Amino acid sequence: MTIPAIEIIGLDKCFGSGRKKNQALHNLSLTIAQGEVFGFLGPNGAGKSTTIKLLLRFLKPDNGSLHVLGNTVGHDEFRHQIGYLSEVPVFYDHLTAIETLLLSARLSGMTRQVINQRIPMLLERMTLTEATNRRVGGFSKGMKQRLGMANALIHDPEVLIFDEPMSGLDPLGRYQIKSLIAELKQEGKTIFFSSHILSDIEALCDRIAVIHKGVLLYSGGLGDFLRGGGSLEERFVRVIEEADHACA
Ligand SMILES: Nc1ncnc2c1ncn2[C@@H]1O[C@H](COP(=O)(O)OP(=O)(O)O)[C@@H](O)[C@H]1O
Ligand SMILES: [Mg+2]
Repeated sequence: MTIPAIEIIGLDKCFGSGRKKNQALHNLSLTIAQGEVFGFLGPNGAGKSTTIKLLLRFLKPDNGSLHVLGNTVGHDEFRHQIGYLSEVPVFYDHLTAIETLLLSARLSGMTRQVINQRIPMLLERMTLTEATNRRVGGFSKGMKQRLGMANALIHDPEVLIFDEPMSGLDPLGRYQIKSLIAELKQEGKTIFFSSHILSDIEALCDRIAVIHKGVLLYSGGLGDFLRGGGSLEERFVRVIEEADHACA
């Protein structure tokens, strides 16, 4: 069997302490195969971003382990295999698009030759060629998101992790990001992305996970999830309501 792209085993994460204790993740386990587009669904505050931050080792788990292509997060070197787009990408406003990508490329240890070939290609792919020498401070939300994508892809990683890549974008911006995810899948990349935009999940994903209040409610094929009847929206709402009812 091939190694999973991402394997999360028995993850617990708690913020705060005492009466302010907030258990953000409860015993979360997930496996994402190589080459898959995997949608991570959940309402606001479900624990999606926390899971992603744990995967990138921006946070440490209380319990459990995370693995990227067989490398254990926190032990082995794994970041070169991951491309990450955060929920709100932050850039240096005074740098231009090309300077932003150059900075990332150099920090990734890429050679000058590879950099010279890859940056113009990524700017073109993200329809940012005309903005190559413009300062990022003046970019629209959609342009920043596309630059964030170029940044995530700069070192040609195998596994892409996008936190709410379509949120806050207009229909054109969403279409561009969706097309890119579909292209990356064609290239054989693994894409793990969180979203609460159900139509985007439906259009792109092979498999999904649904998380609510830090608890995994479903993980499996999109088709199997919908087999219970109704649209993805209806199924999603029903699963969340049933979980709330069970807790009450
Ligand atoms: N740095 C933090 N400190 C304290 N609580 C946090 C922190 N980050 C997230 N949380 C809490 O953890 C829970 C999950 O948040 P998050 O992972 O951001 O959810 P999502 O991305 O699904 O909207 C929420 O209750 C949130 O308030
Ligand atoms: Mg989030």
